[in-house]
Formats: sequence, structure tokens, C-alpha cells
Amino acid sequence: MRKLIAGNWKMNCLKAEGLALAQGIVDAVGASPIVSADVSGAMGCDLLLCPPATLLHPIADNIVRKGGQGLISLGGQDCHPLDRGAHTGDLSAQMLADAGCTHVIVGHSERRQNHRETDALVRAKALAAHRAGLIAIICVGEVLEDRRAGRTLDVVRAHVDGSLPPDATAANTIIAYEPLWAIGTGLTPSVEDIAEVHAMIVGELRGRVAAPEAVRLLYGGSVRPDNAHILMHIPHVHGALVGGASLKAADFLAIARAAL
Ligand code: PGA
Repeated sequence: MRKLIAGNWKMNCLKAEGLALAQGIVDAVGASPIVSADVSGAMGCDLLLCPPATLLHPIADNIVRKGGQGLISLGGQDCHPLDRGAHTGDLSAQMLADAGCTHVIVGHSERRQNHRETDALVRAKALAAHRAGLIAIICVGEVLEDRRAGRTLDVVRAHVDGSLPPDATAANTIIAYEPLWAIGTGLTPSVEDIAEVHAMIVGELRGRVAAPEAVRLLYGGSVRPDNAHILMHIPHVHGALVGGASLKAADFLAIARAAL
């Protein structure tokens, strides 16, 4: 399956910095075969940037529509479960689509933890994303205590079961496995542990999604240029959700190259 390398910029980058970062990625991709497709479309990988919401319009207008089309896509980092209304400070999935997004991350652990988001809320957000025509990237993952207590598979299974909306398909949904203890720490699970979780997720999707093997599964948590090749070639890993390393064009591109 063609891989997806998604950069989650989180709450980083003012306008000049963000435009320079996105431009640097587009310039490098335009000059290299990272996103190219062979006849079957299997070669190359897709690149997605998820900048803070304030940068979506500037990047869409100045970079995607001026030469970046087909090289990068844009995604939001969160959306509200409703389409409009009195929800101060929130953004609807339709607004993200209107700003040029094709994807939105929902249920990132920083949202689940800092904003007490539940599986039910994440599922409602994924449904809102689908109504707006966006691909929902649903994040799931265990905390360190779960891992130590041998509860990883149960916790991640419960996240998938609770967060996956009934209308999920391989075309509108991506699942990102992100162990919380691996995010921003430099730690990663073993290859075997990641393979085990991803295989379990495929099993969970059976009966709930047509063609479960076609649903893209990302790994996230301390993906860097030096570990990307190994991580991106684990069975059932179809790409990465990259935080810290997505803030440097050279590192993000190195991860994309390692995924090929
Ligand atoms: P990290 O973050 O790559 O900095 O560990 C990943 C994420 O939170 O999506």
C-alpha cells in the first residue's frame, strides 16, 4: 500500500516559519521522486501537513495552489463534532475543508488527555469529518502503565471499538497507533510490539469495515530519520504520524524517503 507520511506540527510555527517549512518541503518534493507514482500507483508516498489552523489558509493559498498541488495535502489537527453553532473557539470539519484540508486528526492523545476527550466524542468528530468529505485520522494508543501491565492490546482495541464511526471505510478513515509513552520521548516500541498491535487492529476492523486490509494504519511516536526505515517496513504499517521531526523539512523528507 502506498504510504502516507503526515506531519503534525501541533502548536508550533508562526506564519513566516510555517510558510517557509511548507515551501521547503514542496520545493524538495518537486525536485525528487518522493511522491511520484509508478504505473500501478504503488511507488512513492503521500505527504500530509497538519499545521495549526491559523496557517491552513496561508499555506493553501500561497503554496498548495501555487505549485504544491499533488505534492502535499493539508489536514487539521482537530474538529468539532457539530457542523456549526455557538461553540466559541472551535472549528468545524466543514471549515477545515473550506480552508483546503483533505484530512483531519481526531482523538490525538494530547486532546484525549488535555481536553478529556472520550472515545464517543472522537467517534462523533470522525463522523463530522466524513460529513465534510474529510478523511479522519483516528489516533489510538496506550499509556506506559498499560504497556507495563500487559494491557496494551485491550486498551488499543477499546479505543478502536469506541472511536471508529459506523460509516468508516478504507477511503474515509485512517487509524494512527501512537503509544503515549513514545510521543516526544525518543522511545519507540519494538518492531514486534508494533506489528502485534497493528495486526490486532486489522482483526478488529474485520466485520466493521469492508476490505479491512485496505485501511491505512499509521504508526506515530518518536519517528525520526534514523528509525523511520525500520518502523515503516513493519507489517501493517502504512505510514507515519510525525510530530517533532516534521518541524524540520530535511527530517520530514528523510522520513518520507525511508518509507519508500
Ligand atoms: P512525536 O509526536 O513524533 O514528536 O513523538 C508524534 C505525535 O504526537 O503525533
